Amino acid sequence: MSQSLLLQNVTVVNPDAVFVSDVLIQNGRVSAIGNGLTGDIVVNGSGLYASSGFVDLHTHLREPGKEEAETIESGSRAAALGGYTAVVAMPNTDPAQDNVATVAFVREQGIKAGLCEVLPSGCITVGRLGESLAPFDQLAKVGVTLCTDDGNGVQSESLMQQALVAAKKLNITMAQHCEVSEMTIGAAMHDGECCSHLGVPGWPAEAEVQMVLRDIELVRRTGGRLHLLHLSTAESVALVRDAKKEGLPITAEVTPHHLSLQDTLLKSFNPIFKVNPPLRTPRDIEALKEGLADGTIDAVATDHAPHAGHTKEQPLDVAPPGMLGLETALAVVNTAVTLDVQKLAALMSWNPARIARLESHQGRPLAVGEPANIAVWDTTSVWTVQKDALASKSKNTPYHGMAVRGRVHHTIFNGELVVHEGKALK
Ligand code: DOR
Repeated sequence: MSQSLLLQNVTVVNPDAVFVSDVLIQNGRVSAIGNGLTGDIVVNGSGLYASSGFVDLHTHLREPGKEEAETIESGSRAAALGGYTAVVAMPNTDPAQDNVATVAFVREQGIKAGLCEVLPSGCITVGRLGESLAPFDQLAKVGVTLCTDDGNGVQSESLMQQALVAAKKLNITMAQHCEVSEMTIGAAMHDGECCSHLGVPGWPAEAEVQMVLRDIELVRRTGGRLHLLHLSTAESVALVRDAKKEGLPITAEVTPHHLSLQDTLLKSFNPIFKVNPPLRTPRDIEALKEGLADGTIDAVATDHAPHAGHTKEQPLDVAPPGMLGLETALAVVNTAVTLDVQKLAALMSWNPARIARLESHQGRPLAVGEPANIAVWDTTSVWTVQKDALASKSKNTPYHGMAVRGRVHHTIFNGELVVHEGKALK
């Protein structure tokens, strides 16, 4: 028998109830919930919430290929510090995750790090080149549940249609990065009032909306399951809302940065704010928040995109798009949007767990017998983000120096305390 771990006097956040209790963990599972429990290791949970661990549908871990920016180990540590007990690893690695060997490597490295579950996604097309379909049947056999060319949208309608047909047959999900690439050549910021006079090619909302529109029609035709990555425009939210009313099998995510930062930040030409899709207008931000509130958007996903200093600290037009997200996600979302704790847990944990079909994170409540993947957090602590204090190998956070509210205190993965009082234990 392993040592037992007791979360004492914590406020459990479950889908059906919020209540104060002790939670006892042993042998990787919740072994008791009730008052007056005892355990070998005791963690004080007074004033803190405990929910199922957070699940990120959209993490760039950069390994294999760009270990200077992040490794599976450093990214897993950042995830655990953010309260995540599972992350979906994006496939724009080198080599890309379009084959069984690379997928197995990523999963293995995740197990070795032992800080959270790393679920590799597969590609939609070979090499993410948009030319031929990845071997979905082989990928599905080794446990891939979600395929995406993230970083690129699948431009060919015919290939995307075939991918959705396969998705239905194999019970997997196609996750689309919605971007019509011929509309965003050279673009570095939103195409709108704020920035169109700055002399940098703009990134029109239409580039996203056109692909959302096309793919909704493809789902109507095929019945394949589609997840829409990092939505950023008001029009996309409206389209998804209608598609859901029709009963189409579509889910959608939004990032913390698209909820909290607006396009005017790019007036500074600071590449820290360059991201794909770009930061949008207050009107878009409002629509994204409404989408969260009414269930049109199912999940918050970080799009954690580490970039090494020498690449990100280049002029705006050449710097790569992307920003860190894992360690600040809860706080940024909690600061930007007013959500009750059950809704927060649904967006950060239960819904993304269901979308990724993660068996040990099925969006289930904390209950006796369930796997002990738990985040312990609050919504009131105010702290200032310091880039050098982050565990990620890269430091490209747009929140450096910013005060945010809400904090992850402890993370329990597979029954083991991996983060205690905001510090990673391994
Ligand atoms: O900003 C982004 N960065 N968006 C993406 O879709 C890809 C990502 C990356 O890989 O850096």
